[in-house]
Amino acid sequence: MTIISPSVLSCDFSNMAFEVKKTAKAGAEYLHLDVMDGAFVPNITIGPCVISAIRPHTDIVFDVHLMIDEPIRYLADFKKSGADIITVHEEACTDVKATLLAIRELGCKAGLSIKPKTDPEKLRPYLPYLDMILIMTVEPGFGGQSYIHAATDNIRAAAAMVKEGGYDIPIEVDGGITTETITLAAKAGASIFVAGSAVYKKPDIALAIQELRNAAEAAK
Ligand code: DX5
Ligand code: ZN
Repeated sequence: MTIISPSVLSCDFSNMAFEVKKTAKAGAEYLHLDVMDGAFVPNITIGPCVISAIRPHTDIVFDVHLMIDEPIRYLADFKKSGADIITVHEEACTDVKATLLAIRELGCKAGLSIKPKTDPEKLRPYLPYLDMILIMTVEPGFGGQSYIHAATDNIRAAAAMVKEGGYDIPIEVDGGITTETITLAAKAGASIFVAGSAVYKKPDIALAIQELRNAAEAAK
């Protein structure tokens, strides 16, 4: 199943309640919320108070991507704000397993992400504790960057690892996803696609989501 998760990083932040409702109506399954702390990545975005402010406006799945150091400190806050899936970075956690277990303990789905230059083998020890893998195809920090082609190999490696282990863990891909690059990511094994610019910079976001979905499905 193909899932499109528009990244609100590229939406109109002055009008978030409207943007979020519009996104759900446009046919997206998930809403991707990028949380940045100015330490793990060189940018600062939103936190739990903004997520809880938009939560009453939609029941779409909140796919929360934490680009913060030691996210274990804030998991309960993100759960309380309305997160459904919480993804943390392998590079940002001293104790990855404890962090993933804590996410599940709160009743959320646990995702683990790697940056483009991180060896996908780092994911292997955590497969039993994962509900999703997030492969970054740009350096995290900003929307609107170009897809890093070398990271397609990470998608392929993660997909092989999941299959070999007999797991059923979907692979999400994030960064520089367009109707062209989505084909590469889908072929390599991704099924959940984050897209910021390719949705919100288009005049008709329902059409943009449909075109992304069609391209991903045609690639299989
Ligand atoms: C980057 C974020 C992405 C970003 C994607 O650090 O994790 O979710 O918003 O934006 P586009 O689709 O424009 O690359
Ligand atoms: Zn993201």
